[in-house]
Amino acid sequence: MLDWLPQTRGCAGPGTQALVERIAAAADTLPWGQNYDASDFGAAFQARYGFMELIGPRGPLAASEIACGLLLFAPETEYPQHRHEAEELYVVLAGRAEWRAGDESYAVAPPGAVLHRPSWIPHAMRMGAEPMLALYLWRSGDLMQKSEIG
Ligand SMILES: [Fe+2]
Repeated sequence: MLDWLPQTRGCAGPGTQALVERIAAAADTLPWGQNYDASDFGAAFQARYGFMELIGPRGPLAASEIACGLLLFAPETEYPQHRHEAEELYVVLAGRAEWRAGDESYAVAPPGAVLHRPSWIPHAMRMGAEPMLALYLWRSGDLMQKSEIG
């Protein structure tokens, strides 16, 4: 799942390049995993994404109401519509993917963009030619909840 991480160094933005470089350099030491399984979006999706929780119930820095980590997607991958009780904030670090929430149409969010997803708002993203690396922040009373699909 980390095969595409080196490539994110070439598609970061001026405000995110230094952080992306640090993440790429430290990638092997970070606790990457997956929060979906093949029954959710299929085996092809599983091979094309990874996430890493740095702060939260699973992360090396324990927290019970806030979770924060990284999300990595391979190029040409669709993260289908999903929703969850947790309020979410994404900061795009690298890659120009298309993002959508609620009734919005897909729109490109460049590196540096901040996207807010209120509780239970359906949201999705699709990657084009570039991989996508984003920081995510979840706020909820139940940080172990699994997203609902659709
Ligand atoms: Fe989400």
